[in-house]
Amino acid sequence: MRTHPDVLIIGGGIIGLATAWRAAQRGLRTAVADPAPGGGAAHVAAGMLAAVTELQYGEQALLDLNLASAARYADFAAELSEATGLDTGYRPCGTLAVALDADDRAQLRDLHAFQTALGLDSRWLTGRECRRLEPMLAPGVRGGLRVDGDHQVDPRRLAAALLRAAELAGVEFLRARAARVESAAGRVTGAVLADGTTVCAAQTVLAAGSESGRIDGIPPELLPPVRPVKGQILRLRIPASHAPFLSRTVRAVVRGSHVYLVPRDNGELVLGATSEEFGWDTTVTAGGVYELLRDAHELVPGITELPLTETLAGLRPGSPDNAPLLGRTALDGLLFATGHHRNGVLLTPVTGDAMAAVLTSADGELPAYAAAFGAQRFAARESRTYQELSV
Ligand code: GLY
Repeated sequence: MRTHPDVLIIGGGIIGLATAWRAAQRGLRTAVADPAPGGGAAHVAAGMLAAVTELQYGEQALLDLNLASAARYADFAAELSEATGLDTGYRPCGTLAVALDADDRAQLRDLHAFQTALGLDSRWLTGRECRRLEPMLAPGVRGGLRVDGDHQVDPRRLAAALLRAAELAGVEFLRARAARVESAAGRVTGAVLADGTTVCAAQTVLAAGSESGRIDGIPPELLPPVRPVKGQILRLRIPASHAPFLSRTVRAVVRGSHVYLVPRDNGELVLGATSEEFGWDTTVTAGGVYELLRDAHELVPGITELPLTETLAGLRPGSPDNAPLLGRTALDGLLFATGHHRNGVLLTPVTGDAMAAVLTSADGELPAYAAAFGAQRFAARESRTYQELSV
């Protein structure tokens, strides 16, 4: 079998689906290759939209992209619901980041100073004020940051809505893995799928999450520098007798590990997440579950009463600077939309817009808001270093 879309997207996770949906809306004949579209890392993710509370030193450029995407979320979710009749679970609930001991408190104070210096909306609360907002918090909470702009979405519902929206917009779904990217005369021409289908496309977008760095047919030096970063996560249920349990996302850094609790309107409570560099392993370990429950219990002791409904591990697509690789690559006809690391759910709206802009523009340039995240930035850095060394 042979098919000829304008654009082939390899990977039907939320990044690939948002790119496909936006591309199809702009009139491009678009196909997505994925044996199980709507799955991927989003199936595991908690769905925090935490541009401000997950701010890291040295990542101000990424912050701007994160904020640009956060600003789009309400309209993005509304447009998806309007198009599909499906709810994405977008909930503008805010986040509370708390400190449990003097060291955490000092660290959170530093983060608050950094946020304030960048003009971000983040308010310091005493421990008592934190507990007034969230009465289930442990009595020992020393203080916290109230960030009313960091919201949540339900990534599984988001994926389902994106899949439906893409189908309604005319995207073709090829339910097979891309076995090999194909090239001819120095340009990528599509891919051959595991079921033997040949897809010929003028533009091919690699959006395969943590798998993006190991697809056949791309010279090793041109593969995206993406690695798997394992996250173990738990789901609990808040029985009606325990509601309201938490009214917003609550998070902390406990002994250097991030722990967060994301309460959904449907009674689900997501508890995450480990961050482990163990290659392709997705085993849920007793140690991972123990550490998450231990840390969350210090934060919100009442969680031990809740039914534990699911344990799962997924792989974040980590990149060297924790930011995505977007747009054109050194290979004509090949584009990347990958490497979103901890921010895939948050960055979905802005990635869909940026990729559709590149796919339809004459010059293939990323829009200004995404220009710092070009797919070639690591290759360029390496070749500069090489040239400098050879001089
Ligand atoms: N952004 C949350 C996580 O990666 O665990």
